[in-house]
Amino acid sequence: MKNFIFQNPTKLVFGKGQISKLTELIPTDVNLMITFGGGSVKKNGVYKQVTASLEGREYIEFWGIEANPKVETLRKAIVLGKEKNINFLLAVGGGSVLDGTKLVAAGIASGKDAWDIVLSGIAETQIPFASVMTVPATGSEMNGGAVISRGETQEKYSFGGDYPRFSILDPEVTYSLSEHQIACGLADAYSHVLEQYLTTPGQSRIMDRWAEGLMLSIIEIAPKIKENLQDYDLMADYMLAATLALNDFIRMGITQDWATHQIGHELTALHGVTHGHSLAIVFPATLRVLREQKQAKLVQYAERIFNITEGSDQARAEKAIEKTEQFYRSLGLTTRLSELNIGNETIEIIAKRFNERGVAFGENRNVTGDVAREILKNCL
Ligand code: NZQ
Ligand code: ZN
Repeated sequence: MKNFIFQNPTKLVFGKGQISKLTELIPTDVNLMITFGGGSVKKNGVYKQVTASLEGREYIEFWGIEANPKVETLRKAIVLGKEKNINFLLAVGGGSVLDGTKLVAAGIASGKDAWDIVLSGIAETQIPFASVMTVPATGSEMNGGAVISRGETQEKYSFGGDYPRFSILDPEVTYSLSEHQIACGLADAYSHVLEQYLTTPGQSRIMDRWAEGLMLSIIEIAPKIKENLQDYDLMADYMLAATLALNDFIRMGITQDWATHQIGHELTALHGVTHGHSLAIVFPATLRVLREQKQAKLVQYAERIFNITEGSDQARAEKAIEKTEQFYRSLGLTTRLSELNIGNETIEIIAKRFNERGVAFGENRNVTGDVAREILKNCL
């Protein structure tokens, strides 16, 4: 195990009716701005619960943070926030609203342009922010990351910074999600575990078992959720699994991959592919192309997740990759680029972008533009 420092300061407020705690959780002496997406919260009653809890308090609202939040929109929120001396933000929505709010928090606190903050990779200073999370998927409710898009150049990058002061997770707010949104959320959460787990074995028994516990839970609940999209206990497990999959708990002292996410972000930036769906397409191909490098861990994954105990190591690894693709498909997602009519032209653009940026992703820093091309061709 490598040396590490762990600190996750987010207070998690979980369960039915917990949105009513907002009034206690937000300090009384702050200038508050609440940020929203396109209006799902008005249809499913979340907005009503938020405003009821904050009755009598003064605050302003900013609407319109879109899925895959754009810097162009967020700049407007920063201008408004500065004008009104805002010093506390509450994001009410999915990962996109919260990620966008993390950038707004940085833009208000610093004099820098919002896109320069994203490109720098780190927000040096942010005003405090918190969330009411309405989509189990990204883990943004309990981590310091955010992913921001720039519409005019079709780019999408992440940056790191502060964690939410608190996040309210009420599983009942997920009842209004569609089957496709849930499929994408489950695929995202599962992929987060894979990015941190599927490298090399023998780094930490504890991280391995926690990661395996999350994967087994997600595989167990996914088909049940499909049968009943409004079962409280299933949604509670789904919501907590998504949070734990990316809140630093399963990556203490271990190497990580994240190449699939980087390639997936390009598919979203260029074609608007939903984040979780992009991972369902790219992950099996990443594993096929990097099978030799990842084989020892794939054999452990095969046995502990899919009960594959026979055949050569190569055969077991290949079977586990097949099972992984089947799992994504069982959610109702397609797993091939050709199914979205995406072809060689896009593949070449992504390879060129990676080569021009001089990047190399993955636990061995060997996923360059040329390897990304191979991976993408493998998911045609
Ligand atoms: O905008 P509204 O009207 O609110 O509609 C949203 C949006 O259209 C809707 N929605 C949200 N809650 C709902 C709901 N519809 C019905 N019922 C509800 N309860 O869902 C749509 C998608 O929401 P979005 O926030 O985009 O989904 P998600 O939470 O999956 O977030 C995706 C974004 O997070 C980034 C992704 O790249 C993408 O930009 N990620 C952030 C990470 C992080 N911060 O750590 C890590 C992830 O790997 C990921 O990259
Ligand atoms: Zn993700």
